[in-house]
Amino acid sequence: MRDPRSNGYVFLTRRIPASGLEVLREADLSFTTGQEEEESAVRRDVLAAGVREADVLLCLLTEPIDRALLESAPRLRGIASYAVGYDNIDVAAATALGLPVSNTPGVLTEATADFTWALLLGVARRVAEAHQYTRQGRFRIWGPNLFLGADVGPGPDGRPRTLGILGYGRIGRAVARRAWGFGMRVLAYDPAQQDAIAQDLDTSWASLPELLARSDFVTLHVALDADTHHLIGEAELRAMKRTAYLINTSRGPVVDERALVRALRAHWIAGAALDVYEDEPELTPGLAELPNVLLAPHIASATVETRSRMAVMAAENAVAHMYGKPAPNCINPEVYGSDAYHARMEHARAEANRVNRRG
Ligand code: DGY
Repeated sequence: MRDPRSNGYVFLTRRIPASGLEVLREADLSFTTGQEEEESAVRRDVLAAGVREADVLLCLLTEPIDRALLESAPRLRGIASYAVGYDNIDVAAATALGLPVSNTPGVLTEATADFTWALLLGVARRVAEAHQYTRQGRFRIWGPNLFLGADVGPGPDGRPRTLGILGYGRIGRAVARRAWGFGMRVLAYDPAQQDAIAQDLDTSWASLPELLARSDFVTLHVALDADTHHLIGEAELRAMKRTAYLINTSRGPVVDERALVRALRAHWIAGAALDVYEDEPELTPGLAELPNVLLAPHIASATVETRSRMAVMAAENAVAHMYGKPAPNCINPEVYGSDAYHARMEHARAEANRVNRRG
């Protein structure tokens, strides 16, 4: 519920770390949380009611923020998302309605790259299977064939393995830096980042078919949009080496998950490691039963420090939205010059004056 003594009201869809709440308090903003229970989604009616009353919406990647929701919120001044990816938000609708949208880029780059590598090494060297086996007391004797995996660094033959990176933005580049340390050949495909690829002497540009055909590991770091939806489907999986692994820490729908299940079953590729799912948190039937897949519950950025810093960033963006300042991490900065934005802010100020006079 809005506190009449505060300068504004932020509706948080779900809980965020305390560091972010502190930023809101310091800015004299009141806030409520739509879903307090850590592992539950916010109900749509609770979300809709919260957004209607709020000056600023602070949401997570788990809520679809669509046009209908935004159209029902004339007093809203901005949307601060606690995530770098914003495919859950209809940014075009927000822009048309005069709403700035912000995200949390940069802070989660290194944590996500680390976890990509944890998955890559984990699936190649069968860490999860070996852990289960050992934990269950099944380790009786060392043996030459126990949990054979694939080399990541150069094998005994000295041949460097090849990592193919799709999406060479901040996270793709951080993954590449780690690969250089493993003595890997790094290929990258990203039409928007040709300069960045050219600048990194240890990374070579490859077309998508070339990258798929040559890589021992293919890792995905693209944003989800109409161009990247099902970027990896049956044809792409068939184009990979039979000994190759697919790693996805970007967004689930970048991969056609049904095709992936067929690929893993029929051994078109050796294995896959996934942190994200096409219909999250649901898994495509059959996926969880496959022995050659390593699965995680969307935790690539989940370090204490990263998640806390994301909360501070999201809250700082929310404060900027509240006070009509350009948000530090605005995705649609063109909105600030629009008539829709100025009309919205004027309406919000008039509304605030009316409430203050009444109070
Ligand atoms: C993001 O921020 O987009 C990640 O998926 C979660 O940190």
